[in-house]
Amino acid sequence: MIKVNDRFRHIWNLLMLAAITYTAIESPLRLVVHRPIPGWASIMDVIVTLLFGLDIIFNFSFSVLRRGRWISNPRIISQHYLKSWFILDMMAAFPFELIFSALLSPAGSGLFVRGIHLVRLAKLPKLWHYKKGFEYFLFVNFTIFRLVFFLYLIGLISHWIACGWYYLTVPHETAQDYVTAYLNSLYWCITTLTTVGYGDITPVGNVQKIYTMLVMMLGVGIYGYVIGNIALLIGNLDLAKARHQEKMEQINSFMIANRFSRGLQRRVKDYFSYLWHSRRGYDHAAVFSELPESFKLEFSFFLNRGIIEKVPMFKNAGEKLIKDIVTCLKSCIALPGDWVCRYGEIGDKMYFISRGAVEVVGPDGQEVYTTLSDGSFFGEIALLLSVPRNASVRAADYCELYSLEKRSFDRVLKDYPEFAREIEQEARKRMDKGKQES
Ligand code: CMP
Repeated sequence: MIKVNDRFRHIWNLLMLAAITYTAIESPLRLVVHRPIPGWASIMDVIVTLLFGLDIIFNFSFSVLRRGRWISNPRIISQHYLKSWFILDMMAAFPFELIFSALLSPAGSGLFVRGIHLVRLAKLPKLWHYKKGFEYFLFVNFTIFRLVFFLYLIGLISHWIACGWYYLTVPHETAQDYVTAYLNSLYWCITTLTTVGYGDITPVGNVQKIYTMLVMMLGVGIYGYVIGNIALLIGNLDLAKARHQEKMEQINSFMIANRFSRGLQRRVKDYFSYLWHSRRGYDHAAVFSELPESFKLEFSFFLNRGIIEKVPMFKNAGEKLIKDIVTCLKSCIALPGDWVCRYGEIGDKMYFISRGAVEVVGPDGQEVYTTLSDGSFFGEIALLLSVPRNASVRAADYCELYSLEKRSFDRVLKDYPEFAREIEQEARKRMDKGKQES
């Protein structure tokens, strides 16, 4: 048994997708265009047969997803494969046309030999199977991916219908400009499918008329389906943005109905606009709460990596302290002019600045003691000494802050005396400065 990793499997499936697409385009053409099969097509036949054959071997070692779990037990994989895709894969891989062309007629000129080639299309249903795998493997927007897949299918269907029209309208015996004849058929197919039907290419005879009517009926269905799906997919393209716009409309109507002042309305809009641009409207806490405990640490590490890199105290701290502290941090946003804390208040949390700048303002609300920016912290004095805030802090810019609750702060200080000492030193310096200033 060949053991293959997931990366190989997805790259292999991409190759399979290319081989199936080639077969889906080439097989119907071979059936309807009556000309000797070119040398390169025969070489491609051998390559595709080999690829399809190898695919069967690999499929006996690709892990399978059953009831949401990846299974790599060889016995279960084999059973699963034999019961699902094996027969179709075998049909597609079996070199019928190579055998029959050798046995029956010279160089595959007979209709039967050309037609038997279509057995390779048995692999077509696997396109949906690959689509699911690629959605998982390629880290792209699902909606864009589905839109591309949808257009790909429409392209294949148009090609098959065009081949049918070619067969009915282009005389077999006469030498042809195959490319122009095919393009004419494709043009007829697209105009008929999209219900435009210019009438420049019209059916002659009963068979062509019946075919045209069938394609027209199919066209109405496909057209409706395409328009409906594309509208739905485009609507979904940026679900987060659509939700954000809907929320903004609601908030706006609410503020107008309740006669909010223009200044307040602008601040609310500014807040949501900043929230949208900085986090695409996602509520980290909500995503976080749905994750299992084992993921939470990794998740908060990733989300809070900016603050860990910026705060000098964290940079020098041990891994365990960072792990302990990082899971307790909660992110919040302050707009320019917002008071994050006020002089004399009882403090219940301290803050770390991830991005932006704040001004530390004296009791009079005027005198600016200092400006703190990325990587600094504030609000620690009230927590350390259990006293009211000794200054006010105002956002001087759009600020992304992380808050640490008093309970978590006390626990961290108790467990990590080294860290406690650093914070105390900084707090003492600030208090001395505050005394001098007042
Ligand atoms: P706290 O008193 O809890 O709330 C206000 C915060 O402002 C205070 O903690 C300090 O973190 C910060 N602060 C006060 N004075 C200064 C200063 N002179 N320089 C820097 N930061 C200060």
